[in-house]
Amino acid sequence: MTMQYKNYDVSHNPGGDEPLLTIRNLRTSFFTGAGEIAAVRGVSLTVRRGECLGVVGESGSGKSVTFLSALRLLAPAGRVMGGEIRFQGRDLLNMRLKEMREVRGARIAMIFQDPLSSLNPLIPIGKQVDEMLWAHEKNLTARQRKDKTLELLTKAHIPEAERRYGSYPHEFSGGMRQRVMIAMALACKPDLLVADEPTTALDVSIQNQILRLIKSLQSEMGMGVAFITHDLGVIAQMCTRVSVLYGGLVMEDAAADDLFDRPLHPYTEGLLTSMPSLMQDRSIRLSPIPGSPPDMSAPPSGCPFAPRCAHARNICVSQMPPTYTYADGRQSRCWLHSHDAPAFDNPYRDIRGTAVPDEEAL
Ligand SMILES: Nc1ncnc2c1ncn2[C@@H]1O[C@H](COP(=O)(O)OP(=O)(O)OP(=O)(O)O)[C@@H](O)[C@H]1O
Ligand SMILES: [Mg+2]
Repeated sequence: MTMQYKNYDVSHNPGGDEPLLTIRNLRTSFFTGAGEIAAVRGVSLTVRRGECLGVVGESGSGKSVTFLSALRLLAPAGRVMGGEIRFQGRDLLNMRLKEMREVRGARIAMIFQDPLSSLNPLIPIGKQVDEMLWAHEKNLTARQRKDKTLELLTKAHIPEAERRYGSYPHEFSGGMRQRVMIAMALACKPDLLVADEPTTALDVSIQNQILRLIKSLQSEMGMGVAFITHDLGVIAQMCTRVSVLYGGLVMEDAAADDLFDRPLHPYTEGLLTSMPSLMQDRSIRLSPIPGSPPDMSAPPSGCPFAPRCAHARNICVSQMPPTYTYADGRQSRCWLHSHDAPAFDNPYRDIRGTAVPDEEAL
């Protein structure tokens, strides 16, 4: 695509062709009494404008830490050790804290698994949304803010918003609290919504309602969404692209349809074959991935998935595989894509021509 930039510094052009959020080679560690925990070890991913990127992986794979690093909301023991994070062309890691707070409040919103921990138990929910609006739009009158709050609560499908305005968080169910969080997130009309397992604590029917709500608001408002989950079923419902994390690394990055159609990485395949809901009409036998994720206080030098991988060879255990990129942009970090991988019935090779390994050594 040809882009026309007139008198702009391209790297600071928020309407340009570059992704909304770009995370490149991010490394984040926690320093605890037990030593260094290398939670994120070189994650690269992008969230484009208006798209929903699914970020999936087992517990401890580094999903939350990746985005907490981007938002500079790590626990005190956490430290970003390297990498680059750009949002709308701006360098988030080196931006002043005051500016970062503005970005967080005005351009990026977050919703988490447990809304109770983010809501103030002593303040009625309507007032909390109102305060959020006040923080962003100082020129609104009290009356206008109240109207807008009611509008946001209604938009988040909270019935009888007027009556519910004065209710306290404990008077709400989990699903309703999550709707309040969504209303608060929308108050700043964010360009990016980071949703970290927002429906995990809810029962299935409520979960579906919330997912549908997020999806419809996303297309209505044109937000980019990073949807973090351990559930590929949720990804199938919500996302157009997926980054699969394991052991603090991106194992596979693909369009959601391609990923479900033909996973490139053995870990992705393992996730797919362990998901009953996705396997209904497939001939693959259901089986959980044997073994457990690596201990990140002593991460393996080779592929972190090697100890659990049916295809692992010596090189997988001893050397970190590079990320291979196929012509269509799909990526997979696995030695099975290398040209000298054994040719035996290898489903991970040569499906779309030759993959090119990256040059960044870990
Ligand atoms: N505050 C912390 N102190 C020490 N280690 C931490 C801290 N937060 C996260 N970690 C470690 O970082 C690693 C990645 O954690 P992260 O929370 O990103 O996982 P996750 O993929 O979000 O998992 P889950 O699905 O359980 O939320 C884990 O090994 C975890 O133990
Ligand atoms: Mg998490």
